[in-house]
Amino acid sequence: MTTYLIQGAAIGAGAPTDLLLRDGVIAETGTGLSAAGAERIDAGGLVALPGFVDLHTHLRQPGREDAETVETGSMAAALGGYTAVCAMANTDPVADTAGVVEQVWRLGQEAGLVDVQPVGAITVGLAGERLAELGAMAESAARVRMFSDDGHCLADPALMRRALEYVKAFGGIIAQHAEEPRLTQGAQMNEGVQSARLGLTGWPAVAEEAIIARDALLAGHVGSRLHVCHVSTAGSVEIIRWAKSKGWQVTAEVTPHHLLLTDELAGGYDPVFKVNPPLRTAEDVGALREGLADGTIDVVATDHAPHTREDKECEWGCARPGMLGLETALGVVAEAMISTGLLDWDGVADRMSTAPARIAGLSGHGRRLETGAPANLVLVDPAAPWTVRADELASISRNTPYAGLRLPARPVATFLRGHATVLDGKGQW
Ligand code: DOR
Repeated sequence: MTTYLIQGAAIGAGAPTDLLLRDGVIAETGTGLSAAGAERIDAGGLVALPGFVDLHTHLRQPGREDAETVETGSMAAALGGYTAVCAMANTDPVADTAGVVEQVWRLGQEAGLVDVQPVGAITVGLAGERLAELGAMAESAARVRMFSDDGHCLADPALMRRALEYVKAFGGIIAQHAEEPRLTQGAQMNEGVQSARLGLTGWPAVAEEAIIARDALLAGHVGSRLHVCHVSTAGSVEIIRWAKSKGWQVTAEVTPHHLLLTDELAGGYDPVFKVNPPLRTAEDVGALREGLADGTIDVVATDHAPHTREDKECEWGCARPGMLGLETALGVVAEAMISTGLLDWDGVADRMSTAPARIAGLSGHGRRLETGAPANLVLVDPAAPWTVRADELASISRNTPYAGLRLPARPVATFLRGHATVLDGKGQW
């Protein structure tokens, strides 16, 4: 196994340091390090961060390998600076049994590019009617700790309560896709001035906020852990702030796209901008950025949602919701949070690595880059503007909303337990 000597990378917002990666760990840190036989990487001007952890990735396998596979999604993740991703359960078959989560976990191991941690479904078939085999998934080789019916809201409050109670026994967490289905029937985009102008049925902010408030109360009542997926409205940020002030175990994520894009983009009826929850207003974007900066929102999670051309390049009403996110996440976060001065690189390390690793219980990830820690890290060029080209992405799918956009920063190397999965911005298959 190659030994790497990374020379002169700034550790987050800190000073330039050398890092020696040997036998899967950070063997030494300091200045002026040397190591016979090591491959040297001149990292002057680069920033070293713990490898990113994505709490919300759709890898589409099993079932939709025409849109993404565990292997292609893992490569996209490594190129985005990730060392671990949580694979969502809305596959076909649904990841609601020990067998399916073990299959996904094994495929991740075979690909070997990032740690793929399966998320289990909360209910059988995501139907919201009966709890899935949560205990069996927790005890399986995949050691599932996070459960979600993402793509669907678990609307039944009694079932939500039972799920929160059940996972408490083994330190699990319920990740909710907050969308009151009675308020979003037929919805196509954010409800507001834009939806009225475009004649598209609206998805009101209250459909998200009502479920978050209910679930926060349930989590507080049960004393269990709730994670709120893809928060998209200013009101949701306020509710989460309130829930945290009560001391309840509530965490939340925001996607890169909700930190940058607004519902104005629906104006051209290009379904690449159709996503669930929908793009909201500039006021919402401002509140989400503030919430992420002050820690109300714990994590950036991509909701990487690959879709085939057939499913996406059609009229707005027929298109599936969702957008790619893994390869562009860091650049978008740099644009929304670093360029605006709302976060520094230590803040990015926390929101994209340390906090998500803690929430998912992935103890080998999100660690400070110090001697003895597993060598899971990413080197970022903070001043390397690049233009997103859909056909240059590693994902099988092409549904990026950022095509043609210039982003200010990009990952140039990613290491998983000391193995370079990406070097010079190129994937190591
Ligand atoms: O836009 C979305 N796409 N939101 C979701 O919650 C699910 C996802 C998907 O699976 O395509």
